This record gives sequence, C-alpha cells and structure tokens, in this order.
Amino acid sequence: MAKKNIFYAQSGGVTAVINASACGVIETARKHKDKFGKIYAGRNGIIGALTEDLIDTGKDSASAIAALRYTPSGAFGSCRYKLKGLQENKAEYERLIEVFKAHDIGYFFYNGGGDSQDTAHKVSQIGQTLGYPIVAIGVPKTVDNDLPITDNCPGFGSVAKYVAVSIREAAFDVASMAKTSTKVFVLEVMGRHAGWIAAAGGLAAEKEGDAPHIILFPEVTFDETKFLAKVKHSVDNYGYCALVVSEGVKNAQGQFLAEAGTRDAFGHAQLGGVAPFIAQLIKDKLGYKYHWAVADYLQRAARHIASKTDVEQAYALGKAAVELALKGENAVMPIIIRKSNKPYKWTIGKTELSNVANVERKMPAEYISADGFGITEKCREYLSPLIQGEDYPKYKNGLPQYVTLKNVAVPKKLSATFTMK
Ligand code: F6P
Repeated sequence: MAKKNIFYAQSGGVTAVINASACGVIETARKHKDKFGKIYAGRNGIIGALTEDLIDTGKDSASAIAALRYTPSGAFGSCRYKLKGLQENKAEYERLIEVFKAHDIGYFFYNGGGDSQDTAHKVSQIGQTLGYPIVAIGVPKTVDNDLPITDNCPGFGSVAKYVAVSIREAAFDVASMAKTSTKVFVLEVMGRHAGWIAAAGGLAAEKEGDAPHIILFPEVTFDETKFLAKVKHSVDNYGYCALVVSEGVKNAQGQFLAEAGTRDAFGHAQLGGVAPFIAQLIKDKLGYKYHWAVADYLQRAARHIASKTDVEQAYALGKAAVELALKGENAVMPIIIRKSNKPYKWTIGKTELSNVANVERKMPAEYISADGFGITEKCREYLSPLIQGEDYPKYKNGLPQYVTLKNVAVPKKLSATFTMK
C-alpha cells in the first residue's frame, strides 16, 4: 500500500509544552519513513485543513524540530473552531475529505483539550459515515487539567509549577511590606470551570501560616461572609493574606464573579478580572491595602520554569500517538497512567476518543479542604509529582532561545476555496 501523509495540528489554548508534543509526533514519524509519507501541519488547527492551508514540516531541519521541545506556544498556530455535527454542516466534512484526498492524507493527529478531542472524534467518524479511510488519533493537552481518564494533561504541570512558584515569591514580597503598606495580594489564575490550577498554588504552603492562605475554586460557591472572615483571620494572625483565585469562581446564582462578556466558538465565556473584583471587595469591607495580578498568558507561556515531568509527558504522548497509529489503532487518545506516587512512576495507555470528547473533569471533593479554602493532603500527593524537575531552555544574551519554524506552505491543489460558517 502506498504511504499516506500525516496531518498534525494544534487546537485550543496553547501551553508551555504543546510544542514538545509536536516534537514527539514529528520526530517519531520521521523515524518511520517506510510507513509514513510527508508530515504536514495544519496552520491554525483544523482551519488549516478546511482552507487547504497546510505546512510542510519537512522543510524544517532536525535541529529546528528538536528545539520545539523547549519552545512555548503553538508553533503552527492554534484555533478555537468547532466542527458542527455531520447533519448540521455536511459541507464542512465534504471539504475536509476533499482536502485530505488532494493531499493524500491518511493520518490525522489532533493536539488539544476536550473540545479538540471532539473534533478528532468527529474526523474519525468520516471513515465510517462518508467512506474516507482515515486514522484519527488525539494528543491530549490542556493547562486546565480537565480531560477525563488520563491521570493529568500535558501543559498543566508547568502552569501548576508557575503558579506555586509565583504565589510563594509574591507572598515573600507582601510579607515584607505588610506592617506599613500592602496587606493583601491576590493572584488570579486560569482553569475555567475546574480548580486544578488554583489548587496547584496550594503546593507553595508547607506549614501553618504559609501562603497561599486562601484558594478560591470554581467548584466551591463563593460565600462573601465566610471569605472576608478568613481574610481577616489571616491578616490578624500572620500579618498579611496571599490568595489564589480561579477565574472560574461563581456566586450562589451560578454566575462568574467576573465575566468579560465575550464568548468563543464553543460558547465558553471569556473570563478574567476576578482578582481586581476580590481585591476591591476586601478593601471596601476590611480596609486593607492590596495588590493583585492576573497571571493570564504568562502562566501558560512560562516555558522558562516548565516542569520537567510535564515536558517529558508531553513529548511521550506525541510519540505514543504515532506509535498507536503504527499499531493500527484508530479513534483513540494516548493517556497517562499513574503507577505510584512515591516514587512517582507513570506509563502510557490509551482510551477511545468517544470517552474524552467534551467531558470535563473537575476537582473531586476529597481534594478540597473542609472549609473550602485550601487543598487536602490527598490533593497535594496527586499534584506534587507533576511539578517536579526543571528543564531550562538555552539562554543567550540573558533571554531564553526559542525557535520560530519556517512554516513553508504546501502548494494548494484545489481551485475551490472554502468559506467557514
Ligand atoms: O482552555 C485553556 C485556557 O487556557 C483556559 O484556562 C482559559 O480560560 C482559556 O484557555 C483562554 O482562552 P483564549 O486564549 O482562547 O482566550
């Protein structure tokens, strides 16, 4: 059988290590020249397939591809684009087939979170419903750590490390100033509906009185009275209060405390701005001077402080995705299976795409302390291995050296263009 070409793409919010997965996919596929043809990447995820905007990764050298392992963000561009159901928009699927046929694509690797695994799942169904044979494999990624079944998600360990390090450092600062100036510091972190990233801040606290003194989770309804009493207790007892607040915190009516008012293609609200809200509330009700920060893209782009464990897992999952295809698997996603906590041991398994598409895994109740403002020992045991190790990029002139690929376009073969709805 003639060798088929590969389509690889990145989708959803990017991370410090999604390029390490790309590196794993491309380096592994390059080792199997007897099995695979060209390795193409979609420019901006699935949009690259729909608009026939493919990148020939073969134009980049082995050293450029190797440097992806150390480079944050999505080297080929990402997207938030939802494929509709087959019945709702058959034209979109016909277009995908047209592009895949024109470029002889037989393998589809899609690197993303829950929404993106839904796309991978839908593409895998093209084979059955529209008779175009394609092997579709998901590659997990999301800083939110909310994919089910896999022990954790690449991208998360590095954000977790960034947040734990940042709240520890900022807490040292505010502790120094607290006597005559700032008494409260609020760090807002990502995570949308799941509190995993906020929980990771809790790793910074090792003994009574350590920061963060309060964590606000999306899983726990915000109770203003209880919250303010806890802030006051912290300032009275430790001299200051350092908080980690998830962007997804909701009030008793189920509304986000801070919603920017815009939505993405999947209908997700754009979040951000809960830190100033919380800081102002504290100032108004308790009178403490504050500082706040929104970690925002800094947290998920912070490759300089990435977790070594996370980088290794991201690479291993990219590699495993290609190996699954070689074994004849289809419509699956490689996952991380935890073998033990101490010492931390993990291996790679797999699950059906249908099990992960659109499913969100939130923090279990047993990971949140009884008062709702901290993490339990069990949670610490789960999180701690994921932030272990450092994997610094090379530095030059005091700055990390990151790669920008050539991203040479594959010549178009189709005359028709496609307008996305
Ligand atoms: O999906 C991952 C994530 O980083 C969320 O934590 C965050 O709410 C969202 O992406 C932000 O998305 P965007 O970069 O599209 O605004």
